[in-house]
Amino acid sequence: MVQFDLFEGSVNQILTASTYLKFKKLLSGSDCERCTLSHARTNIVVDRGNSKSEIIFIGEAPGEKEDKQGKAFVGRAGKLLDEFLLEIGIQSDRDILILNVVKCRPPENRAPLAEEASACSPFLARQLVLVQPKVIVLLGATALKYLAKDKKEFEMHKEVGKFFMLPEYPGIQFFVIYHPAYLLYDPRKKEVFRNHLARFKQYLTDRRLL
Ligand code: URA
Repeated sequence: MVQFDLFEGSVNQILTASTYLKFKKLLSGSDCERCTLSHARTNIVVDRGNSKSEIIFIGEAPGEKEDKQGKAFVGRAGKLLDEFLLEIGIQSDRDILILNVVKCRPPENRAPLAEEASACSPFLARQLVLVQPKVIVLLGATALKYLAKDKKEFEMHKEVGKFFMLPEYPGIQFFVIYHPAYLLYDPRKKEVFRNHLARFKQYLTDRRLL
């Protein structure tokens, strides 16, 4: 596990928490200043959903609503995601755990910078170790970029709807779909998104994961 020097004692305490709930309490209550996103945040957004689930979704970063409420995907994009998931019988708060690449809101909702993603990455890594998911759905290009580090350049329309494995995460099946905010921007993509979710649902059903 990644550890930091003694000056980062509170970070070490968070990263060595023995259960997910302890980890969540310590991180959300911490005054983490590992990157400058800490300056303008209201809340550290750890997750939303069921931490006992074997299915994790990973988005990009909290937006305004998430920052205010301290919960992931509670704004417009989150509501849209919830609606699509309900269509395939998934209730987000009950059936999955939703995380983000970074836990604090970037200014103007820009994508997180590499140094911000890197500063926050030990927290995401620890979440994955504590939850031990069987399958991870990456929502959009930012999640794909920071988890699949070997993918230097890619086009999202060629990546979405695909299953793959990553050597850093043995035994975990990955799947990529568009970020729901992209569907708000381009509603014509909703049909293909629905098809990808149907493929994902079939995967879950075949393996009795849902
Ligand atoms: N977009 C994200 O990527 N994450 C959130 O939590 C909200 C919107």
